[in-house]
Amino acid sequence: MNFDLKTLSPAQAAEFPADALLVLVPDALPKGQSPLHALVARALKDDDLEGGVSKSLACYRPEGIKAPRVLLVRAGTADAAALRKAVGAGVAQLKAPGVTRLAVVLSLVAVDADGLRAAVQACADASYVYTTTKPSAKPRALAKVTFGVSDAGAVRSGFQAGKAVVAGVEFAKEWANRPANHATPSRLADAARQLGRLPGIKTEVLGPREVEALGMGSFMAVAQGSAEPLRFIVLRYQGAGKADAPVVLVGKGITFDTGGISLKPAAEMDEMKFDMGGAASVLGTFAALAEAKPALNVVGLIPSCENMPDGRAIKPGDVVKSMSGQTIEILNTDAEGRLILCDALTYAARFKPRAVVDIATLTGACVIALGAVRSGLFSARDELAQALAEAGEQSGDLCWRLPLDDDYAEGLKSNFADVANVAGRAGGAITAAKFLQRFATELPWAHLDIAGTAWRGGAAKGATGRPVPLLLQYLLNEAARPAGQAKAKAKASAKARSASR
Ligand code: BES
Ligand code: MN
Ligand code: ZN
Repeated sequence: MNFDLKTLSPAQAAEFPADALLVLVPDALPKGQSPLHALVARALKDDDLEGGVSKSLACYRPEGIKAPRVLLVRAGTADAAALRKAVGAGVAQLKAPGVTRLAVVLSLVAVDADGLRAAVQACADASYVYTTTKPSAKPRALAKVTFGVSDAGAVRSGFQAGKAVVAGVEFAKEWANRPANHATPSRLADAARQLGRLPGIKTEVLGPREVEALGMGSFMAVAQGSAEPLRFIVLRYQGAGKADAPVVLVGKGITFDTGGISLKPAAEMDEMKFDMGGAASVLGTFAALAEAKPALNVVGLIPSCENMPDGRAIKPGDVVKSMSGQTIEILNTDAEGRLILCDALTYAARFKPRAVVDIATLTGACVIALGAVRSGLFSARDELAQALAEAGEQSGDLCWRLPLDDDYAEGLKSNFADVANVAGRAGGAITAAKFLQRFATELPWAHLDIAGTAWRGGAAKGATGRPVPLLLQYLLNEAARPAGQAKAKAKASAKARSASR
């Protein structure tokens, strides 16, 4: 899909050659003389556009307007959230084989950069179609979308960011949606190598021999029940000086989670193909970085394997040794995500990162706690937690911070190893995070549990591409921060902490 940004007055929009116009209508219609004004004013006067955001009115060949189809959609106050909703609803309604060239007319509303970015994202989201393993699917009809605004120059940054997010989200959706037999660890590595051909990105892929040499006994333990060989993917985006400390993103890449010997029940087990949603979001974020080109260094780490029951599979009670040296008693083989992530977190330390963020479809408990609206956010570093939470609000890709009190780690005690991989059922998202935290004690670390947000179930089953928008926003914000500020702030907050003791 091709996006374009144009300065377009309402009068020019009426003349614009397209298969359809999607016209966003604000609560307070500005005065004007164009045929578009006349149409909207009439519809409002006749009470045909009454209702909240997303209320719409479809018009066919209205007078004085060149495009044959005109869809009026209420956009309320036209803030980013309202535009996301209204554009999404409008584009979904305009899904038709005859609509390949669309103009989204934002000239009647006051749109800022964040609002335009939201509109671009919503347009892509609403027109996305997965086709890879479904030859009968009708591919996306939309080929060209022009965003018409009153001043293109004023919102160009939002447009660019929007295009980058869309590239990232669509890359993430594609890989997360692919069935597990089409998205094996080796195929994920191929996708990462494909990204390695983009400007600024380098990819390295480690296999079982290298992973063994590194001592990643916990990651290897999960992989040992599968016929598919594991992969450890290392991506690097260099947008700043070589010596600049990178942000490290770690994505859980379980390409299928049967639970292993602690086998999952049959219902909805197919959805465990999405258990590499964290990995997909890391890949997608790198696709977005190649477009947005921020002045920042980023490393992506993806431990990837299947979790299968087998004669060679790990058994409840097995004790394995992680790369950190800590031994782990595997009481439940279905708590495998933390077992592969812990070794990746140990590996992350070698980059001397300014921040490490892991992203994982980690716990059903997080789905119970936060549902599908917000991802779970965990960090002992207030500044990092705040930066991620803010990036979430800014991009509309929300998260919510949950606690990390040490008392939550009580249940992880083991009589046979340094730590057990599960505690009781209570606070399951938090105890999982407490497990991970043991492997990140020296790191400025945060954890995003995306079990509830990475995909939708039911009739609209499919990957969401989350949290690519949050991650890209966080990275863009980091890049925009004056150099040295990160360190100075960390020092100041360390001082404040020791003073308060
Ligand atoms: N991949 C699952 C988490 C999950 C479950 C995500 C359902 C989305 C929907 C993870 O590997 C898992 O199985 N976690 C267990 C942990 C438990 C055994 C402590 C869970 O949440 O049930
Ligand atoms: Mn599991
Ligand atoms: Zn899992």
